[in-house]
Amino acid sequence: MNILIIGSGGRESAFAYKISQSPKLDKLYIAPGNAGTHQYGENVDLKVNDFEGIGAFAVQQQIDMVLVGPEEPLVKGIHDYFLSQEHLKGIAVIGPQQEGAQLEGSKDFSKEFMERHQIPTAAFKSFDKSNLEEGLAYLDTQNLPIVLKADGLAQGKGVLILESYEEAKSELKAMISDAKFGEASQVVVVEEFLKGIELSVFVLTDGENYKVLPSAKDYKRIGEGDTGLNTGGMGSVSPVPFADQSFLDKVEERIIKPTVDGLKKDNIPYKGFIFIGLMNVDGEPFVIEYNVRMGDPETESVLVRIESDLVDLLEGVAQGNLIDRSYTVSSKTAATVMIVSGGYPGKYEVGKVISNMENVKESIVFHAGTKQDGADVVTAGGRVLAVTALEDDLFSALQQATADAGRIFFQGKYFRTDIGFDLI
Ligand code: AMP
Ligand code: GLY
Repeated sequence: MNILIIGSGGRESAFAYKISQSPKLDKLYIAPGNAGTHQYGENVDLKVNDFEGIGAFAVQQQIDMVLVGPEEPLVKGIHDYFLSQEHLKGIAVIGPQQEGAQLEGSKDFSKEFMERHQIPTAAFKSFDKSNLEEGLAYLDTQNLPIVLKADGLAQGKGVLILESYEEAKSELKAMISDAKFGEASQVVVVEEFLKGIELSVFVLTDGENYKVLPSAKDYKRIGEGDTGLNTGGMGSVSPVPFADQSFLDKVEERIIKPTVDGLKKDNIPYKGFIFIGLMNVDGEPFVIEYNVRMGDPETESVLVRIESDLVDLLEGVAQGNLIDRSYTVSSKTAATVMIVSGGYPGKYEVGKVISNMENVKESIVFHAGTKQDGADVVTAGGRVLAVTALEDDLFSALQQATADAGRIFFQGKYFRTDIGFDLI
């Protein structure tokens, strides 16, 4: 099979690594990829939202399957584009069509979906220009803190947690009237605050059946001890020690099954990954959000634990017979530590030469924001490398990944040395 991965981050590197091991693979391409992905396949200079370019390339190279990494092309309808073109509709696309992608693309859609299918989530109400006054009055009836969420995609910045009514009101106005998050905040979901500990569960579905992938926890804040600004993710572990079997059984019964069944009942075709962000509130799971793709850096920790052939599973998704595919997961623990550019998630410099990667022997180094510059690999983004270790226990995995992150060098490099140690 010829496979094209869309994206360029650590997540796509992990996909490329795993897919390159498949006996079913003939040729692997990554568009656009990074300085690390060419170890596993061929990088293609195409932008993730260039559907025409991607389609033309897919025909030219006889691609059988396109695996979409990031949410943006899905929300913009890359899968629908392939289905709409006579010469592309035979190519399998892993990732939902536009309608299903609304689970991530619109918070209001996803909250309505959960309400309709009785999936546990925080209580909510949505407001826009037409009922802003009602929204402001509604805030006064809520407990503090209050959660405000921009309805649309806002690059992970559209969620505000406010500790006072004044702040909540002024932010609601800023979001709706002053377009604080642009179009994304034309509609705002006002949500009850859930107190607990977060984790993520991943599901692969062909729209009929599903496999529950390993769960993971990511660390979003830039600073040690979970302090400072939010980032795309500074590290991850899988499995999650506090998500025991009884908790995961609740997740499957109350959330995963009704989600897949709900999509079916609503006639929403869905072939791809569902990333369910959960809050564990005193042992009870609540959905914080859906994403229609895998997480980054969760994927790096999740995929190294999957023993089965990922291409076989993806083929099951495409053909609608996922139920027949074998699926086993390693009992080992994976830990990922992200190395980022100094200044990230604020302003940072790029083009710094990365050295010493060859001294990492025990962990896998997944490239994220990297670029080939002549003979050098240089930094090209905020999140630069994901260092993933797979060991018998959590402590060994954390120690290995953290130590190996320390072995790599570039000017201004930063990583958290405390990823996962809170779980021990
Ligand atoms: P989201 O973009 O929906 O993942 O929200 C970003 C972050 O805000 C989440 O990862 C949580 O840490 C936090 N958050 C979102 N919704 C809630 C909620 N209802 N209660 C508490 N924290 C929340
Ligand atoms: N690590 C969180 C995400 O991928 O959205």
